[in-house]
Amino acid sequence: MGLKLMTIMAIFMFLLLAATAKAQPCVVFEVTSAKYGGKTNYDITDSLAQAWTDACVSVWSSKLVVPSGTYWLRGATFIGPCKAPIKVQIQGKLKDPEDGHQLVNSDFWVAFRYIDRLYLSGGGTFDGQGALGCNYRSESSNTDGIHIAYSWRINVTDANIETRDYCISIGNGTSQLTVTNVNCGPGHGISIGSLGKYLDEKPVYGLIIKNCTLTNTTNGVRIKTWPSSPSARFASHIYFEDIIMNNVKNPIIIDQNYCPRHRCKQQAQLNTKISNVSFKNIRGSSASQVAINIACSGSLPCENVELIGIDLEYSGDGDRPITS
Ligand SMILES: *[C@@H]1O[C@H](CO)[C@@H](O)[C@H](O)[C@H]1NC(C)=O
Ligand SMILES: *[C@@H]1O[C@H](CO)[C@@H](O)[C@H](O)[C@H]1NC(C)=O
Ligand SMILES: *[C@@H]1O[C@H](CO)[C@@H](O)[C@H](O)[C@H]1NC(C)=O
Ligand SMILES: *[C@@H]1O[C@H](CO)[C@@H](O)[C@H](O)[C@H]1NC(C)=O
Ligand SMILES: *[C@@H]1O[C@H](CO)[C@@H](O)[C@H](O)[C@H]1NC(C)=O
Repeated sequence: MGLKLMTIMAIFMFLLLAATAKAQPCVVFEVTSAKYGGKTNYDITDSLAQAWTDACVSVWSSKLVVPSGTYWLRGATFIGPCKAPIKVQIQGKLKDPEDGHQLVNSDFWVAFRYIDRLYLSGGGTFDGQGALGCNYRSESSNTDGIHIAYSWRINVTDANIETRDYCISIGNGTSQLTVTNVNCGPGHGISIGSLGKYLDEKPVYGLIIKNCTLTNTTNGVRIKTWPSSPSARFASHIYFEDIIMNNVKNPIIIDQNYCPRHRCKQQAQLNTKISNVSFKNIRGSSASQVAINIACSGSLPCENVELIGIDLEYSGDGDRPITS
């Protein structure tokens, strides 16, 4: 999984799990042990990388632990494949460097790649340090809380995400993803896509986003695709259920004409086929008068999009009607 993690304020990550580990001996690798030498209030970038390397080659299932306390982290790329199931338990708070130029990688802060049977938990915090990190990264303006792509059977649960870009952004090649009990805001909400911008994208299907709360976000739940896709794609079986919107500007959006700064070839007709999508039991308040905005493509319309039990009211000034 390519995790393009760019927190602006803080991510309190409780659980993010991929598969169940089988019962077998478990070897513990603690970053603060004498072998790795990590200390609270110090930079643990190198200690963490070494502990990961050892944990990943362990033939027994392993647990990599960052105990409670505050640590500095310039970046981490956890790369597999590993030999056995692996748990990463972050109990402490990881802060990114005050000087953004010290980041190991400017595209992401913490990434997990090519790993099977990973379980990330611990109740800790990834603290991207608000405005500070933001000043450095705005240049790229991509500060998604969790970015998931090219991954299947991922569960994200019990997380609080505060950021400036998307709380969760779901990219090409994601399937069988379940997101539950996530609080998001501020931020841009939860988005599937954008899809269809580049060659070689893989389909997105089988997503469940359930029991999440969005507060003061610019979007609620969104699917966006480019109208000038280089080849035909699809996104299907996407279910949003039991979602609470608190003062969300655009609570429900499908946009098949996503084209920021008019950078797409308008003559192209290909798009991503969107089908079998449902929005069920979505309640709360919209900060704009347009609560639902479904803009499907004329050439490749969305198919089988259901809206059930939508109860949204305008949270702005005055008793204005709400539209869709
Ligand atoms: C992940 O979510 C799926 C679908 O909700 C569920 O069936 C599965 O048990 C979950 N896996 C874990 C490890 O919690
Ligand atoms: C929904 O999520 C909240 C946390 O955001 C949690 O406290 C609650 O137990 C969840 N409800 C269900 C039915 O899982
Ligand atoms: C699809 O996702 C993979 C994995 O993140 C990424 O490397 C690739 O660039 C993505 N493709 C597009 C076209 O976004
Ligand atoms: C959401 O925005 C409102 C109005 O700006 C503000 O009063 C409230 O504190 C915000 N809520 C959160 C959780 O930030
Ligand atoms: C959408 O669901 C219907 C049945 O509910 C099924 O017949 C159809 O093949 C599905 N479409 C796709 C693209 O999977």
